[in-house]
Amino acid sequence: MYRIAPSILSANFAKLGEEITAVIDSGADIIHFDVMDNHYVPNLTIGPLVCEAIRPLTEAIIDVHLMVEPVDRIIPDFAKAGANIISFHPEASKHIDRTIGLIKEQGCKAGLVFNPATPLDYLDHVLDKLDLVLIMSVNPGFGGQTFIPEALAKLKAVRQRIDACGKDIMLEIDGGVKIENIAEIARAGADTFVAGSAIYNAGKDSDPHHYDTVIAAL
Ligand code: DX5
Ligand code: ZN
Repeated sequence: MYRIAPSILSANFAKLGEEITAVIDSGADIIHFDVMDNHYVPNLTIGPLVCEAIRPLTEAIIDVHLMVEPVDRIIPDFAKAGANIISFHPEASKHIDRTIGLIKEQGCKAGLVFNPATPLDYLDHVLDKLDLVLIMSVNPGFGGQTFIPEALAKLKAVRQRIDACGKDIMLEIDGGVKIENIAEIARAGADTFVAGSAIYNAGKDSDPHHYDTVIAAL
């Protein structure tokens, strides 16, 4: 099953509730929530308070992408705030297996995120404990960047590993996903597509939420 996960990083934060409701009304059932700390990545965004505030608006999955270091301390806060999936970068955790366990103990699904230059070796001992693998197709920190094509080979490699492992693990791609490249990304094995600027910045004057158009391109 294919899923588009609109990234609210590109939403208008002055109207965040409306911006979320608009994509949910268009059929989105997962919201990508980018958390940046101005330390692990050079940008600063939103935290558990905002997650808690949007939780009552929708029953959609809230897919929290932690770009923070350290990660463990903030995990219970996001679980309490209503996150469904919590993903983190292996470089930001001293004990990857412990962090995965912590996310699950808190009742959330756990994801591991790979930057463009992060080797897939980090999957070696934990793949079967994960619910999601997130491949970054840009360097994390900002919306609106260009898709790095090397991510396609990485997706194919992870798809093979997931299929061989036999577990139901989501394979998500994040960064530069557009109408023009989404079908090729799907062919490489992704099943969940984060799209920020493609949804929230496209056609701002006419139809501000191109969720339908993006999903139709699959
Ligand atoms: C980047 C974030 C992405 C970002 C994607 O660090 O993790 O989720 O919002 O934005 P687009 O789709 O515009 O590349
Ligand atoms: Zn993200």
